Amino acid sequence: MAGKERRITPPLARSLSVRLLVLTIFFVMLSEVLIYAPSLSNFRIRWFEEKIQTAHLAILALQSTPEQLVSPELKTDLLRSAGAHAVILRTPDRRLLLYTTRPPQVDETINVQDLSLVRGVGDALAALLRNESNVVHLLGPSPRDPRLTVEVVFDDDELREQMRVFSRNILFLALIISVLTAGLLYVTLLGLVVRPMRRITSGVTEFANNPENTLAGLQPTQRRDEIGLAQTVLVDMQKDVRASLKQKEHLAALGSAVSKINHDLRGILSTALLMSDRLSQLDNPDVKKLVPPLVQAVDRAIGLCTQTLSFARDEGPQLDHARFRLRGLLEDVSADLAALNAGLSQLENNVGDEFVIEGDRDQLYRVFANLARNAVEAGAKTVTVSARNTEDEVFIDVNDDGPGLPQKARDGLFMPFSGSAKKGGTGLGLAIARDVMRAHGGEIELAASGESGTHFLLRLPKSRSRLA
Ligand SMILES: Nc1ncnc2c1ncn2[C@@H]1O[C@H](COP(=O)(O)OP(=O)(O)O)[C@@H](O)[C@H]1O
Ligand SMILES: [Mg+2]
Repeated sequence: MAGKERRITPPLARSLSVRLLVLTIFFVMLSEVLIYAPSLSNFRIRWFEEKIQTAHLAILALQSTPEQLVSPELKTDLLRSAGAHAVILRTPDRRLLLYTTRPPQVDETINVQDLSLVRGVGDALAALLRNESNVVHLLGPSPRDPRLTVEVVFDDDELREQMRVFSRNILFLALIISVLTAGLLYVTLLGLVVRPMRRITSGVTEFANNPENTLAGLQPTQRRDEIGLAQTVLVDMQKDVRASLKQKEHLAALGSAVSKINHDLRGILSTALLMSDRLSQLDNPDVKKLVPPLVQAVDRAIGLCTQTLSFARDEGPQLDHARFRLRGLLEDVSADLAALNAGLSQLENNVGDEFVIEGDRDQLYRVFANLARNAVEAGAKTVTVSARNTEDEVFIDVNDDGPGLPQKARDGLFMPFSGSAKKGGTGLGLAIARDVMRAHGGEIELAASGESGTHFLLRLPKSRSRLA
């Protein structure tokens, strides 16, 4: 068998492993982003809480001393350590202020108690992306004593810088994680899926190129996962295909041998027929009695040879499509039948005159002639044919009132040489009928058979089957 050259490895961009690699990197990055946004918001909230704490610590120095006694230098130091322009501490009964100069105009006021992880995401991202710093007025309860409120005014430069570093770290980490995950996944998939798949493809290709060679092709595997099962199924199929190829080869060889024998046998039988004819002319009563059965037997033998030969030569019917009236075809069959048994049986033609089908008239004639002949040979008095249209098929029913199919005929029905249950039968008639129907894209099947008769159902694909 000449195999086509097939491509076994796909182009890199189409390769399963590369696509998975890219997808994994993408998905890991995506999930990192989903995690990143709330963690940035959380980072900002923690930072604010710490800010309140440091501010509180700075102002504690004032609490113990009368405000006037603190030197401006100390105030500056305290404010620098808190990173603030000003700090205010409100207790239930007094208010402590720590500032050196009048603090700048406040850009935004933030109450730590109002902050939440989700709502903070937008503000955190905005702060990160902003170009200039804001003056923030932050207030919240002191972590040391919730009755005290600490307020602090500061530039958010430092916060934004730390958020930037935080983001950079996360991005870096995400990259490392996704590359690492993708890489591991890639290697795993390569070993677990891609390589085995390639092995299967190359095995199947090898088999397709050289199906007869038992050493070539896919080899059995111990794997029991999906790929292993696929491989096992393919190996089994390979075995079946090989076996049926071998059988076909045998049959072909046998067929050609049978054809040759048949051909010679027909010649020999013709001579025998000729001789029996001559014998029948002898004027001897014994001979006169013996010759007719002899002629009949030889006749049947010649018939068998002829049919076998024509079947062996048949390479599936070549169809000569035409549109014709089914009723006309059946009238021909009916005439044929009348000649066969001197009008003892008849064909009841229930097909309308306008019923038109498309197909090879001669081939379809063989089908109906065979069916009618079979019925009559089985002992039917009447063969009834009717036809009907459906949406896309033509159904033709062939019924007879014969005795039904014998069991032997049922067993090998439609199979060449094996369905015959009568003396001198070849078992080719129904096999040929099925070949013809299938070549037309149709089918013949046994619908029913019993003591009161046999019913074959024929289907043909419809092609504008009805005349207007
Ligand atoms: N209408 C029928 N009624 C009863 N038996 C039938 C009918 N059609 C076919 N058969 C049986 O099926 C067998 C196979 O038929 P066929 O394939 O035409 O081969 P053949 O006619 O050469 O025996 C026949 O031998 C016969 O026994
Ligand atoms: Mg027949």
